[in-house]
Amino acid sequence: MDEEIRRNALIVMFGGISTVEALILNTLWILARHPDWMEAVRSDRSQLPAILEESIRLIGPVQSATRLVTRNMEVDGVQLRQGDIVNLILSAANHDPAVFEAPGEFRPRRASASRHLSFAAGPHLCLLMHLARAEAAIALAVLFDLLPGLRVDLQHTCPPRGQCFASRQG
Ligand code: HEM
Repeated sequence: MDEEIRRNALIVMFGGISTVEALILNTLWILARHPDWMEAVRSDRSQLPAILEESIRLIGPVQSATRLVTRNMEVDGVQLRQGDIVNLILSAANHDPAVFEAPGEFRPRRASASRHLSFAAGPHLCLLMHLARAEAAIALAVLFDLLPGLRVDLQHTCPPRGQCFASRQG
């Protein structure tokens, strides 16, 4: 039990640092590759929530989540046994063409925008996802206000990467 409390406390205290940092930087990187959206958000901050939501879907800061199988079951022809641990690739679900048309494209305001799984789902849905969204929106708004001439040098920028929750918890 102590170990469970310790791990949960660690997520509450530290789970929202590198994740939000990744969301802010990934979004900047995406906007640099989509100057029309960069221009749109510079002149109208109300575009930020939709832009952030699509950024979270396209390049989720957390790429996977682990789950303990509590009873024998079959999922899509795969047999799962009680006690198995499965690693769910959230980013793959976020690129499911049956849910997201042209999933590799950055399309804020797409009809299915809210159906991404970047904050997971079910009882362990990210506890502070609304805080994460607010933090990123405030950070980007302040950045654009303070640095109106901000440019991202794509020549010297690595493509963004998400991380696996499983490795953070391990
Ligand atoms: C963009 C930023 C964030 C992303 C993408 C994200 C993503 C996630 C995901 C995928 C999970 C589920 C993990 C699992 O089921 O194994 C989760 C859980 C959690 N997140 Fe976040 N998170 C973010 C920001 C934050 C922030 C800012 C906090 C707190 C300050 C936070 C606190 C938590 C906590 C406490 C849980 C565990 C919930 C539970 O197990 O019931 N997260 N997050």
